[in-house]
Amino acid sequence: MDVAEFGRRAGEMAVDLPERPDAGIYFIGRIRTPWQRRRDCPKNARESTALCTVELDARFVPALKDVETCSHLVLLYWMHRAPRDLVLQVPSHYNVPRGTFALRSPARPNPIAMSVVRLHKIENGTLSVSGLDCLDNTPLLDIKPYFASTDSVPDAIVGWHARADRRDRRS
Ligand SMILES: C[S@@+](CC[C@H](N)C(=O)[O-])C[C@H]1O[C@@H](n2cnc3c(N)ncnc32)[C@H](O)[C@@H]1O
Repeated sequence: MDVAEFGRRAGEMAVDLPERPDAGIYFIGRIRTPWQRRRDCPKNARESTALCTVELDARFVPALKDVETCSHLVLLYWMHRAPRDLVLQVPSHYNVPRGTFALRSPARPNPIAMSVVRLHKIENGTLSVSGLDCLDNTPLLDIKPYFASTDSVPDAIVGWHARADRRDRRS
């Protein structure tokens, strides 16, 4: 965890985590991006069109069969530099604490992040994609096809975000 990049803000709350994790996971590769520091990273996947590279562990390359037919993919990745104990957080542009599960913050008990990326090409087990917001070398957890027909919910809302007025925002 990179404590310096995740200073605690007033109103935030942390909890003691369980003694042991309940399951193990495999990192299936690494995501190479242009960003080394949080402050340089896009805040969300739609904020950037930078070309990034997904380097897959060679043993999983056969699992890429037919992936080249997909225009967009869901990438799940592990925010390896985020704290895991925060349950209330104050997002950087707002003054109000929100529950971790109401936020897309990387700080969460299981720091799993997701983005829908555009697939540009696949070569020798390496994917070129755009639409990412993670630090260089972020571990990759999974790759799934994005189905616009079932994954897209155009009328979905996040109430607190839609309601957030100037009082909530930092000046
Ligand atoms: C707000 S999160 C959104 C992540 C993902 N798109 C999601 O919605 O689940 C993106 C931010 O996480 C931070 N971040 C990126 N990679 C990280 C990593 N490997 N460890 C910790 N924090 C990271 C950066 O500050 C970046 O702007």
